[in-house]
Amino acid sequence: QQLQMNLEQIEKGGYDHFMLKEIYEQPSVIKDTYRGRLHANKGIIQMAGVEDNLEKFTNARRILIVACGTSWHAGLVAEYIIEEFARISVEVEYASEFRYRNPIINSDDVVIAISQSGETADTLAAIKLAKEKGAFVFGVCNVVGSSISRETHAGAYTHAGPEIGVASTKAFTTQITVLTMIALRLAKAKGTMSNSDYQRYLLELELIPEKVEEALLSNDVAKTIAGIYKGAPNCLYLGRGYNFPVALEGALKLKEISYIHAEGYPAAEMKHGPIALIDEHMPVVVIAPKQNHYDKVVSNIQEIKARSGKIIAVVTKGDTQVRALADHVIEVPDTSEALTPLLTTIPLQLLSYHIAVMRECNVDQPRNLAKSVTVE
Ligand code: AGP
Repeated sequence: QQLQMNLEQIEKGGYDHFMLKEIYEQPSVIKDTYRGRLHANKGIIQMAGVEDNLEKFTNARRILIVACGTSWHAGLVAEYIIEEFARISVEVEYASEFRYRNPIINSDDVVIAISQSGETADTLAAIKLAKEKGAFVFGVCNVVGSSISRETHAGAYTHAGPEIGVASTKAFTTQITVLTMIALRLAKAKGTMSNSDYQRYLLELELIPEKVEEALLSNDVAKTIAGIYKGAPNCLYLGRGYNFPVALEGALKLKEISYIHAEGYPAAEMKHGPIALIDEHMPVVVIAPKQNHYDKVVSNIQEIKARSGKIIAVVTKGDTQVRALADHVIEVPDTSEALTPLLTTIPLQLLSYHIAVMRECNVDQPRNLAKSVTVE
């Protein structure tokens, strides 16, 4: 028993839980994911699975993304990035919905299937259906030799290493890293991005690991905030643009490890009903980086404050305007707007982790959950 305990402690690398270890592994595994593929100084992105099938991607009339859970959230981030960079229409589908609704799939469609485990039954079934209908299917998986990696025509692995915690963290950020490199490569091939912007994104992507390192410094602030809100019965997460999927992901993290009911919304949607939920008992996490939507998000914050909502804001380092309005702020470094999800998700991972620990939940194996949903 003691040996087992020691072994597990070694595997956790001194962290109390696998999830915390995996949150802190993100700088290094993001680097591992772009190593050998991103050559910023030479202005090159080289991914065999993409290069060998570049025509299929650049001639695609649209890209369909199928996934579940956190991987589906990574797909939503990819939708914004691929459409913005490569001007290819992207539709993101829950694999479980896609596979049963007799979807329209054309032979010039490209399907991207995202799965950490590579064993999710609904995603695997969606892939088989897409292949039957003649689509080219590309996989983004974290497990070499997994069913999905074998079923897809081509793919690109994330190099996150084994993700033990049921709540996905490093898989999410490495999936976004792979999908961002694909979007940049396609933009280059299609000439939809200027060389200077392309070069700027490559150099900025190379800086992400150290910026994630800096975002992790918010751990103590996140822990303090967790102590204040660990008893909240509900929580809302709001974001706009690239950070709308991050709001969904932050809410999923909180739900699945602390069992607090949480919902993510596009910030502007509050006026269409959900704002009726706001009162002094409702903590609202608002992702408010200093980017294009900033002024609109600030006005959303003011609307929530007017209804006594408690604001926990994720802001760009040095922000003063949101700081003056919010009850709590967590800072992340500045980066390009399209790359903000890689940083804004970090404090949300830490916040949900600390709340779950304070609620004495089983962080690595939350109740009723499995690491990979291989059943339908
Ligand atoms: C996320 O924290 C959950 N563990 C779950 O939603 C997961 O993302 C989903 O089951 C998809 O798993 P996959 O990436 O292995 O396909």
